[in-house]
Amino acid sequence: MKIKKAIIPAGGYGTRFLPVTKAVPKELLPIVDKPMIQYIVEEARASGIELIILIVNHGKEAIEDHFDINYELEDILGKKGNHELLGLIEGLSDMIRIVSIRQKRPLGLGHAVLQAKHLIGDEPFAVILGDDIIDAQMPCLLQMAGVYEEYKRPVIAVQRVPREETSRYGIIKGRQTGKRVYTLDDVVEKPLPDKAPSTLAIIGRYILVPEIFDILERIPAGAGGELQLTDGLRELLGEKGLIGYEFEGDRYDGGDKLGFLFANIAYAMKRPEIKDKLLAYMKGFQ
Ligand code: G1P
Repeated sequence: MKIKKAIIPAGGYGTRFLPVTKAVPKELLPIVDKPMIQYIVEEARASGIELIILIVNHGKEAIEDHFDINYELEDILGKKGNHELLGLIEGLSDMIRIVSIRQKRPLGLGHAVLQAKHLIGDEPFAVILGDDIIDAQMPCLLQMAGVYEEYKRPVIAVQRVPREETSRYGIIKGRQTGKRVYTLDDVVEKPLPDKAPSTLAIIGRYILVPEIFDILERIPAGAGGELQLTDGLRELLGEKGLIGYEFEGDRYDGGDKLGFLFANIAYAMKRPEIKDKLLAYMKGFQ
């Protein structure tokens, strides 16, 4: 079955990026000149997603504005004949259908996903985390949709991380059963390096089935006192099985200062008008 809906949780406080996130949603911080969340929405669209369900909290209205029409700006640019700039913004509002739901209390990623239950219905769906920017020839979510199609089981994206970083991620336990494919036996949220069952970390792309909602409704809060999606996956694994898929592509942790800077440099280096000048500038730091 085709994956048509994607949930994008955007309800966090972005505390790792204070003070900038005091008044500006983290999701709108730019990578070169595009907000992080636009990369995510573009990946979703290129993967065949038709509806985005944004989970927001108060203070995130600017995200909705970003994907809306700005008549005044479009009118001004149009009258000035500045079609290049107009082209950068006018497609944004009809790129994809977006609805937003408020997560009224910050009770965790599992809780955020649960807010979309009534909009999903009886079909598989995607969850995409805005912090994980993935630059890939074939969009990561599209790669995963192919895996779902083949195995008919929920799929989560995984990537190898250094052992000292396991406590920043959900970590999988599983056996490799195909090219880039792992059949999972367990998932653990943010284990300490000496407790981690592997160094394969869950990255923010999931293809899930509606059964996850009933699970999230009945399990208790986990790590950090929050309702963890990973704890829900652990139950789902018992009911439906779970595939870990080691995607092809470069992933940047946009929620981390260094990861965010790396992403900016990597995407800037793809821009011919920036690349040479940036390189020349960086040489000055050696
Ligand atoms: C979340 C998930 C974690 C996953 C990570 C990927 O953690 O809970 O399992 O590995 O995203 O980015 P967070 O980054 O929200 O703390």
